[in-house]
Amino acid sequence: MTATPATAQFEVRPHPAPASAEQRAALMDKPAFGMVFTDHLARATWRTGEGWGDRRIEPFAELTLHPGATVLHYGQQAFEGLKAYKHADGSIWLFRPEANAARLAASAARMSLPAVTEADFLGSIEALVTVDAAWVPDASESSLYLRPLLLGTEACLGVRPSTTVEYVLMASPVGGYFPHGVKPVSIWVAQGFHRAGPGGTGTAKSAGNYAASLLPQQQASDNGCEQVLFLDAREDRFIEELGGMNVFVVMRDGSVLTPRLTGTILEGVTRASVLELLAADGRSVVERDITLEELREGISDGEVAEVFACGTAAVVTPLARLVAPDFDVTVGDGEAGEVTMALRGALTDIQYGRAEDRFGWMRRIG
Ligand SMILES: Cc1ncc(COP(=O)(O)O)c(C=O)c1O
Repeated sequence: MTATPATAQFEVRPHPAPASAEQRAALMDKPAFGMVFTDHLARATWRTGEGWGDRRIEPFAELTLHPGATVLHYGQQAFEGLKAYKHADGSIWLFRPEANAARLAASAARMSLPAVTEADFLGSIEALVTVDAAWVPDASESSLYLRPLLLGTEACLGVRPSTTVEYVLMASPVGGYFPHGVKPVSIWVAQGFHRAGPGGTGTAKSAGNYAASLLPQQQASDNGCEQVLFLDAREDRFIEELGGMNVFVVMRDGSVLTPRLTGTILEGVTRASVLELLAADGRSVVERDITLEELREGISDGEVAEVFACGTAAVVTPLARLVAPDFDVTVGDGEAGEVTMALRGALTDIQYGRAEDRFGWMRRIG
C-alpha cells in the first residue's frame, strides 16, 4: 500500500526466491514463538554527521558484523516488540504502534543510540508488512510479531557510542501464546538478583536487562515456576515486574493495584491500555508501591482475588501461585479470575476487530 504522509518511504528490493505458498503454510502451522521469520527485513543505516539513510526492504539474511562491533562487546542496543493483527475482512492492523515508537526513542536515548523517528518506525513496519502480507496469520489468536532492533555496528573496542548504527526490523508469525487455551502460571520471587536499579537501564527495552533476567528465570524454572517476579533493588521489598510482563493485583472489593512506574520498570503498552480499560469501566485503580509481604498476605487471607501479568506476547495472563523459599501461596482457587479474563477478552476483541476501537488504538496498515 502507499505510505501515508506520516511515514517514511523504504525502497523495496524483493527477495528473488521467497518461500512458496506450501513452504509458508508449513512454517506457519503452529509456529513456536519467535522461531519462524518472513522473507524480508526492513533496514536503515545511520552514520555520525549524516543521520539515517539507505532505508530499504531487502531479502531476509544473516547480518554481517565486524567482530569488534560495539553491540557485541558493550551491548549498545535497543529493541521493541509489537504485533500486526489480521481482521476477519482480511485487513491488517497495528495496536498503538506510536507508543512503541516513542518507547524505542526513549530506549535509544538511554543507550546513546540515535532516535528512529515515528515516521521511520511506522514506515518500516508498513513497508515490511506490505511486502510480507502473506505471512500475517489468520488463525484465531495468531499474529505477526514485529521486532524492531537498533544496534551499534562500529568496529571499535573503546567504550564509547558507535558512530554507525543499524536499524533492523524482522517479522515472525506467532500462534496463540497458550496453544491449549489460557493457563494460569506460577511465579518465583527472584532471590538475591534484581533486574534493574535506580538510574540504571530498567525502563529501557535493551538487551542487558534481559541478559540479567536469564539466571533468575532459570532458578524459577528449577523451582517449578514458569515466570520470575523481580523486587526493587533499593529495598528488595516492592514488587516490580516479571521478566517480560507488568503485574496487576485485583482486590476482593474489585479495586485494582499495579506498581507505580519508578524508572526501573518497563512502561508496558499493554499496562497503559489495561489502566485505560479499567478506568473506562469505572473501577478504582491505584498505581503505588506494593510490598511482597502485602501481596503474599493478601493472597493468603483472600483479600487479593486475582493477580495477572500483561504484555504484548501473552496479552493478559492469570498468575496462580506465588513461590519463594519460605512460602508457596495460591491465588484464589488457582484458576483464571473473572476480571483477568474480561480484560483479556476486551483487549483481544479490540486487537482483532471484534469490538469497536473506542479508544482509537488501532492503525490500519494493509
Ligand atoms: C520487562 C518487560 N516488562 C513489561 C513488558 C510489557 O510491555 P508491552 O505491554 O509493551 O509489551 C515487556 C514486554 O515488552 C517487558 O519486556
